Amino acid sequence: MTLYEEYYKTPSFKRARKRKQGQTPIIDFDRHTTLKNIGKGRTYHLATYGCQGNEADSEAIKGIFESLGFKEAAGEETADVILLNTCVIRANAENRVFGELGRLKQYKRHNPDLLLGICGCMPQDESVMDRLLKDYPYVDIVFGTHNIHRLPEILENAVLNKERVVEVLSDEGSIVEAMPKKRAHPTKAWVNIMFGCDEFCTYCVVPYTRGKERSRSPEAILEEVDALVEEGYKEITLLGQNVNAYGRDFSARDYTFADLLNALNEKPIARVRFTTSHPNDFDDAAIAALAKGGNMMPHIHLPVQSGSNKILKKMNRKYTRESFLTLIGKLKEAIPGVSITTDLIVGFPGEEQEDFEETLSLVKESEFEGAFTFIYSPRKGTPSAKYPDHTPMDAKKERLQTLMELVNEGYKKGHERFVGEVVSVLVDGKSKQDSNMLAGYSPHNKLVHFEGDASLVGRIVDVRIVEAKTWFMKGERL
Ligand code: 5AD
Ligand code: SF4
Repeated sequence: MTLYEEYYKTPSFKRARKRKQGQTPIIDFDRHTTLKNIGKGRTYHLATYGCQGNEADSEAIKGIFESLGFKEAAGEETADVILLNTCVIRANAENRVFGELGRLKQYKRHNPDLLLGICGCMPQDESVMDRLLKDYPYVDIVFGTHNIHRLPEILENAVLNKERVVEVLSDEGSIVEAMPKKRAHPTKAWVNIMFGCDEFCTYCVVPYTRGKERSRSPEAILEEVDALVEEGYKEITLLGQNVNAYGRDFSARDYTFADLLNALNEKPIARVRFTTSHPNDFDDAAIAALAKGGNMMPHIHLPVQSGSNKILKKMNRKYTRESFLTLIGKLKEAIPGVSITTDLIVGFPGEEQEDFEETLSLVKESEFEGAFTFIYSPRKGTPSAKYPDHTPMDAKKERLQTLMELVNEGYKKGHERFVGEVVSVLVDGKSKQDSNMLAGYSPHNKLVHFEGDASLVGRIVDVRIVEAKTWFMKGERL
């Protein structure tokens, strides 16, 4: 039996919707000593689309490539393997990748041995997978979010046996520890604390493509953080689709997101951030943990999606405008000066002008200092894709424009409040706009530009803010 026959299963939203009870299997990544050399003399190019979850996965994918002897190619033109780590959250994310596949095909003409692959969330989506298998026969490697750890075998079959390898598991997922990682940033690291999502917001594909909620053990997380401190990392961002639900799936112990924050508060890591939060699960214990300050950074990304109770209900968000505002009030009281950002969707099916206006008024009341704003994108297989939707696209675009203008005022106000103050900045590198300037982020996650020497990169320095712009603040080093 070939790998294809053994492992290829069509991804199925129906199967993914069923959640089994019980402990999540924890697998230790097998370091595959026998496969170590399959990449020798070969190069790879990996392009990443979508959320921080994919960025973190890409660090593991690169780690695996390199543990097999592959080197990162100087560019896609010279690579022996081109892999796209993809996203399906909205139609435009997916269309971009289909466009890219068409463009990358040209390289196969010059290099018939080139392997073209696709991984991440697109292969987990059954309708996307249909299109991929039918219309893109020149794609050699397809694997999903649940089998990154099997990349050595997948590559072995593709590289050595020259087979087309399609391996997508439509299961609820396990937890794989000890995957090698090639981290993208020298001082800031992603730390997965949980995978999957059990919220089933009616518009969202994530619970289908990423499986059920499953939390890593606190011991594994704290061990990873200790190693990062040892390696000189200054900032960690805890990752999960709904970090506030951390630990909810443990059957044999009682350990919550607040417990994890409290444990991290004791660690010698300078900055702790996390994303993403769900308002419904943000409890008082987590707020109290954040209120302790120290390395807990005063910025919370708290997606609200809509300000209309009617729409929130249809979205299955499980909170109301009022309860959301109560939570915002609690956060602001417990963490003085906290910066809150959000995600907003306009044009959800059934959203009338008055619902949209409720979103605008909620944005004002919440005083968001930033937001990712989206036009609703129907995703096949999700409940809301079947809801009647009478709002014309032009009206949705107009709503988005109005919303973005309001959100941008929030960005600017969020910067203005720091003018004259001294903030600590973790210096990322040279500014993209002006190579004489350095750029980094303040505790409130505000981008700061200031003049300084390249030797400051990677350090945390004090900067006095002298000017507020919409997208960044200008400062002077003390
Ligand atoms: N259409 C538009 N936006 C979406 N998001 C998730 N699913 C959809 C969709 N079908 C947005 C939500 C979420 C963010 C990551 O993407 O705002 O918080
Ligand atoms: Fe999607 Fe909702 Fe889960 Fe976020 S909480 S990943 S929007 S289902």
